[in-house]
Amino acid sequence: MDKRGFKQADLIRMAADRGSKLGKSQVSQYVSGKTLPRRAVVQLLADILEIEPFELTGENRAAEHEPASAEPATAAGPAAPAPATADDAAVPAPATPATPDGADAPATSAFTPSSPAMPDPPERAEARPAAAFPEPRTFADRSTSSSHSEGNIMSENIRTFKKSSKLDNVLYDVRGPVVDEAARLESEGAHILKLNIGNPAPFGFRTPFEVIQDMRDQLPECEGYSDSRGLFSARKAIMQYAQLKGLPNVSMDGIYTGNGVSELINLCMQALLDTGDEILIPSPDYPLWTACATLSGGTPVHYRCDEQADWNPDLADMEAKITPRTKAIVIINPNNPTGAVYAKEVLEGIVEIARKHQLMIFADEIYDRLCMDDAEHVSIASLAPDLFCVTFSGLSKSHMIAGYRIGWMIVSGNKRLGEDFMLGVNMLSNMRLCSNVPAQSIVQTALGGHQSVKSYVVPGGRVCEQRNYVYEALNAIDGITAVKPKAAFYIFPKMDVKKFNIRDDEQFALDLLHQKGILITRGGGFNWPEPDHFRIVYLPPMDVLHEAMEDLAEFFETYRQR
Ligand SMILES: Cc1ncc(COP(=O)(O)O)c(C=O)c1O
Repeated sequence: MDKRGFKQADLIRMAADRGSKLGKSQVSQYVSGKTLPRRAVVQLLADILEIEPFELTGENRAAEHEPASAEPATAAGPAAPAPATADDAAVPAPATPATPDGADAPATSAFTPSSPAMPDPPERAEARPAAAFPEPRTFADRSTSSSHSEGNIMSENIRTFKKSSKLDNVLYDVRGPVVDEAARLESEGAHILKLNIGNPAPFGFRTPFEVIQDMRDQLPECEGYSDSRGLFSARKAIMQYAQLKGLPNVSMDGIYTGNGVSELINLCMQALLDTGDEILIPSPDYPLWTACATLSGGTPVHYRCDEQADWNPDLADMEAKITPRTKAIVIINPNNPTGAVYAKEVLEGIVEIARKHQLMIFADEIYDRLCMDDAEHVSIASLAPDLFCVTFSGLSKSHMIAGYRIGWMIVSGNKRLGEDFMLGVNMLSNMRLCSNVPAQSIVQTALGGHQSVKSYVVPGGRVCEQRNYVYEALNAIDGITAVKPKAAFYIFPKMDVKKFNIRDDEQFALDLLHQKGILITRGGGFNWPEPDHFRIVYLPPMDVLHEAMEDLAEFFETYRQR
């Protein structure tokens, strides 16, 4: 253009003279190198400038002489698929891919401001982020875009895809933005100690060998789908387990296996909640409950668990939050993130509230085999034969096989109350065909006989000793207090927000990550309303926990949030 003394307006005018319409901003995008034109437009511009097309695209001649039907190659990559509509005509210039040895791919478009003579810096791929591309439009903007009648004219907008607005209020910080930042630091070579996720296997908690052996032996029989509720053998074992826990009126057709409890939580929320229906969920909670209730269109309403009362639910608060739209109460017992095990009287109080207000009970009891000290786990469903209850559990934690994905739910009590809900559950269960069959095949082995997890939670056992140490170490830090957990492998310490000037718990989590390389989950990630708590997973071995607690103590010695 410079050689010919052309301005962008000249290109537009000369294209019009040739019967083709070019938009002002399109030409500007081409000249700046932010988008590459389609082949026909490249040809047009080359004709106007009286040069060869490859001089514009930076492609080699051979490629240029491919049949006209070939779609335009991007500046450095292979031909992009044919655009489906005129809207797709503009091909965004991709970040230049690096060759295996780290050098950038050679071709450089003459449209780009950096001419071939300029060195192509290694950070270029990052130097051309999406933000440098034309302002994308969303699907909703589609009606305002150019149409086919404009021939080969490129749209100045690119269609991008927004996540569903259903996800707008969904929070799942256990794997959230702070975790993303940790991953970024790791990719730069930093060592991050992950105290953020309750995944036993990476910390040396191994699956009982018999479980693996049995899965291996049964694998050839697990190739097909099972009944959508699950294998008979698995459900029978779950039923026997339910009998031992005293769950009333349980039958085989009221037991469903799932790809972890997670899948079944989601399934139940979808089956139960209409838009605006309310469900009582603890605060703090295991956030999947709130997330799934929200995703299903329901309204999670949080009742408070009381730190002063060993994190037991505050029954007065629970009852005060009931409205005519409330359908169910969720309890997580033993609790994640607090490690609380609810006393029988508290459970009886919850049953009384549910009875009075005709509510369903969902009980997440995935940690029931991980109780310590004298804590005895009581299944709330065993206290509520006249109510409709759904109890959830699984093998992820008790058998250290979170990766195998096996959980279940058991319907008990007065099933007549939930007949229609169960039609919904059946429909959704059938729609997902079945849960992972190899994992179902070991439920019977896992639930029967010796429970090796017990050796971890008795005095001298790894989980128990680690809990004791972390509890002592945290409480020894000035400004930190923590209730002693009675189950699971989490502790939910409180920070003196005045002393540390903490106003934003995500900032605190990021500061800890950056200063000490320790990844925890902020209290807000568990729908806890104040910025004064965080959760630690105390699964790592003792020597690692020692180091982590020393680092934490050092961090809090000087920390003041800015
Ligand atoms: C309270 C609670 N419920 C459910 C789950 C999900 O378990 P699963 O692995 O069975 O999906 C977890 C996982 O951490 C949990 O803490």
